[in-house]
Amino acid sequence: MTKKAFTVSRRDFLLAAAATALAPPLALRASRRKLGPNDKLNHACIGVGGMGWGDLNQFGKHPKVNIVALCDVDSVRLKKASEAFPNARTYTDWRELLEKEGDKIDSVNVTVPDHNHFVIAVNAIRAGKHVYCQKPMCHDVAEVRALTETAVKAGVITQLGTQIASTKGDRTAVRWIKEGAIGKIKHAYLCSNRPGAVENYRLVGPRPAEGQEAPSTLNWDLWLGTAPARPFSPDIYHPTKWRAWQDFGTGWSGDIGCHIFDAVWKGLGLKPPKSVIAEVQKSWEESPARRADTWPQGNHITWTFPGNKMTESKTLPLEWFDGEFYPPEEIRALYSVADYPAESAMLIGTKGALLIPHGGFPVLLPKTSFENYKVPELPDRNHYHHFVDACLGGEKTESHFAQSGPMTEAILLGTVAIRVPGKLLEWDSAKMKFPNNPDAERYLSRIYRDGWRIAGR
Ligand SMILES: NC(=O)c1ccc[n+]([C@@H]2O[C@H](COP(=O)([O-])OP(=O)(O)OC[C@H]3O[C@@H](n4cnc5c(N)ncnc54)[C@H](O)[C@@H]3O)[C@@H](O)[C@H]2O)c1
Repeated sequence: MTKKAFTVSRRDFLLAAAATALAPPLALRASRRKLGPNDKLNHACIGVGGMGWGDLNQFGKHPKVNIVALCDVDSVRLKKASEAFPNARTYTDWRELLEKEGDKIDSVNVTVPDHNHFVIAVNAIRAGKHVYCQKPMCHDVAEVRALTETAVKAGVITQLGTQIASTKGDRTAVRWIKEGAIGKIKHAYLCSNRPGAVENYRLVGPRPAEGQEAPSTLNWDLWLGTAPARPFSPDIYHPTKWRAWQDFGTGWSGDIGCHIFDAVWKGLGLKPPKSVIAEVQKSWEESPARRADTWPQGNHITWTFPGNKMTESKTLPLEWFDGEFYPPEEIRALYSVADYPAESAMLIGTKGALLIPHGGFPVLLPKTSFENYKVPELPDRNHYHHFVDACLGGEKTESHFAQSGPMTEAILLGTVAIRVPGKLLEWDSAKMKFPNNPDAERYLSRIYRDGWRIAGR
């Protein structure tokens, strides 16, 4: 594998103006088969443990999918997947997979930790592959912008891994918002106060001063990929716990935000925010060591979106709460303070309110006013299979990147605000700048590790 093979073009570089070091493309020959409903999709899974195990099995269940290749940097996880799909060829290095399988696969799913989403997805797209990428689409705002533009230009089928967006619940919520069930929207309150999440996934840090040798079953260098070279340490990174660290994850709002935002974003047809500001856990804010490494265990983020025909005013405030921060009691009381869904979106309109529990069915409030409100009859839909069907010429996917990219950007702007708590950041989306706080622009992108970036950057 040559280093040259990883350099990024000047144009892509400029596309994500703030990007310091976007992923270098592999020297791949782009090949894309034209597929129809009678074809079979040859699919490769990159990341087959954790959520990747679920993704693999979802794709594997579609009658028109051949799982032809599997990739994971952890040989134990790769072996388990290989035993379930013994005909699939196996890889440790996704670059080798794309090189060797280039003319044999039609699509990939990218289900690895967030810091490597971009580099894998953008190279797969350049190789002509359709991409299902887990949420959040990327680690950084600049990466999302570049990936979205690359995907749209390439004309490949894409889908963000927001599987709940395809459920009848979320689709009903979108329908109700659009048809004005609760009138014009005044305010939105989103939350993820999942029990156990703080203890299990949101480590206090800082990371240990000294690392250990990684187990022989894990290729730690490939796991790190674009991230800074951190010594391996058991239990705090791989698997799952990487989310706690700024190097690899995107904080709790970055992790769960795409799920909770989705119906609100689509229903209201939101555009890039005008500004964002965050209030965070005090103990994190006051600890330089924690601020340098981890994400806070609690966040309250407020975006101001431009209003539109769906909103009561010229701007729409949208607030996010997680960890120790909860939506105001009077808002929870509109449903029930005791039974308020831990992960949900509540929209306040001029004619009522709409509660959208994550993974549940939306509720129009007050219930007595909406007893006879029509529930639309919607067909069942599987998010993964919808992607497969789209690759085979079917209808557009629910969360294609042109749709979900701008939403992910907005969510990741929240993760920038977290790192400069209490500072209002005005956002110029076209220029990808914070005119009132240029200093915060350094959080829009990352410097990739040597070997993963353009020479000289
Ligand atoms: N849509 C959802 O509801 C949902 C739920 C959980 C996780 N996710 C997303 O899925 C992604 C993975 O999260 P997870 O919880 O499964 O993490 P995890 O750490 O449990 O699993 C990640 C898997 O990817 C493998 N891996 C890591 N780096 C790799 C690389 N460079 N190449 C190949 N394989 C690599 C790991 O060995 C592991 O098997 C994240 O982006 C996360 O946000 C989505």
